[in-house]
Amino acid sequence: MSTISQALAPLIRVEGAELHYRVGGALSALRGHAPVVKAVDGISFQIRRGESVGLLGESGCGKTSMGRLLLKLEEATGGSIVFDDEALSSLKGTALKSYRKRAQLIFQNPFDAVNPRFTIRRTLSEPLENAGVPASEREGRIISALELVRLPDPRPYLDRYPHQLSGGQLQRVVMARALILEPDFVVADEPVSMLDVSVRAGVLNVFRDVRDRLGLTAIYISHDLALVRYVCERTIVMYLGRIMEDGPTEDIVHEPLHPYTRALVAAVPVPHPDQSHAPLPIGKGAPDPRNPPSGCVFRDRCPRAFDRCARKVPRLRAVGTRKVACHLFDEDN
Ligand SMILES: Nc1ncnc2c1ncn2[C@@H]1O[C@H](COP(=O)(O)OP(=O)(O)O)[C@@H](O)[C@H]1O
Ligand SMILES: [Mg+2]
Repeated sequence: MSTISQALAPLIRVEGAELHYRVGGALSALRGHAPVVKAVDGISFQIRRGESVGLLGESGCGKTSMGRLLLKLEEATGGSIVFDDEALSSLKGTALKSYRKRAQLIFQNPFDAVNPRFTIRRTLSEPLENAGVPASEREGRIISALELVRLPDPRPYLDRYPHQLSGGQLQRVVMARALILEPDFVVADEPVSMLDVSVRAGVLNVFRDVRDRLGLTAIYISHDLALVRYVCERTIVMYLGRIMEDGPTEDIVHEPLHPYTRALVAAVPVPHPDQSHAPLPIGKGAPDPRNPPSGCVFRDRCPRAFDRCARKVPRLRAVGTRKVACHLFDEDN
């Protein structure tokens, strides 16, 4: 491939990805009816280099599972994920080790993401050491990474322990650790949900700034549309392991097409990262993931469901600037 077509080719191609968890233990497996949770159930999308994409949906819809598949922290039970023309399923040995450097996770809770007995210096040295960076270069790299995430005057922090930092400061350290090996791709899994509202905007600004400066390709996982809107040009809306809608974030915010996206948008009164949102205006909560409805998984909460929705799984189809999986948009309607 020429350099130009390489630059234009998507960095990530996901085709019918599945992650089905067996739940219920050995006994029910023996009886032949081990329930399965289809955390990711036939998802397809592509991500361009430098694009930042929000993965949006209520708790339990499979966002973290999708993120773990993309990072090969979990093996897909079906479909394929191709990163820079290499299938993740075939990565082993040195190729896998190199992928572990290129693709990084930023955790939800910074206090879970670090070893409480390690100083900040040791926390940030470890990935460098594992990557074979000589000891003499490490301190300089650590300081640059902390400056990149805008931790002002970073030196005094190096000998401190995680509990001696605020949540916002520690989340910056966690970001610095993810970025210190200069990855191509990051998955940020609800990176501000455990932080005080007062420091969220600061961390989000750092995230946006770093992403732009490094030209990172990023997936930003959140249940909160206001946060996704602040950070991502494109949004993928998930519900019970499937994609409901995928398109430019501003189009989705201003004219949501899928009834589920409409509910999510209606639940965000003011699109600002400091605002929390009201409960979804669609009655009951999500169904038992072990026993989802037939046809469209959203249909039992959908205010516009009709007979076809129970019979047939809606296909994700192009509608204007985006893709929607809903029978309201079938061609014969
Ligand atoms: N290791 C696991 N074993 C069994 N079920 C799991 C496991 N991890 C997640 N799940 C289930 O998969 C579904 C999706 O979970 P998750 O990906 O964490 O969703 P989200 O991040 O959107 O909240 C949920 O029903 C959850 O209970
Ligand atoms: Mg999650």
